[in-house]
Amino acid sequence: MSPRIVLVGPMGVGKTTVGELLAERLGCTFRDTDADIVAAEGREISDIFIEEGEPHFRELERRAVREALADHDGVLALGGGAVMDEGTRALLAEHAVVYLSMDVEEAVKRTGLNVARPLLAVNPRKQWRELMEARRPLYQEVARVVVATDGRAPEEVAEAVLEAL
Ligand code: S3P
Repeated sequence: MSPRIVLVGPMGVGKTTVGELLAERLGCTFRDTDADIVAAEGREISDIFIEEGEPHFRELERRAVREALADHDGVLALGGGAVMDEGTRALLAEHAVVYLSMDVEEAVKRTGLNVARPLLAVNPRKQWRELMEARRPLYQEVARVVVATDGRAPEEVAEAVLEAL
């Protein structure tokens, strides 16, 4: 079993919204590894970051991605930082991975000062720029196709994903 589509891309790019639309269009289910981790751990991701740090979270995430890739045959969305982990990137080889991209200004506009996302609690524009520079090549490395989301509604993005695959 293997997901029909795996969505990667920065937080706030619309992986969940677009993923749910894609699942509806394809008549399958949507799954999200962030939600899997929260359910398995019984606490919020921000608490895992605070209590045990990012490396521990990335390990939990790698496990969640491995399980979801093996168990799920619908649309799967990964957390925005999943590609930071080499082991997680290796798991994605051979899967239909779609990178939903956005530029820095779009990211700032969409997420603003969203403190619920622990990596962006301070100075969003600078952090976004650094985050995008570090992660863009990693998203590109795992992705079969790239779909730009700047200025596009989720429905248009979903349509573009289906056309691109
Ligand atoms: C993270 C993105 C989040 C979540 C965690 C870390 C990141 O996922 O996994 O807060 O490192 O970019 P979303 O992309 O679903 O917000």
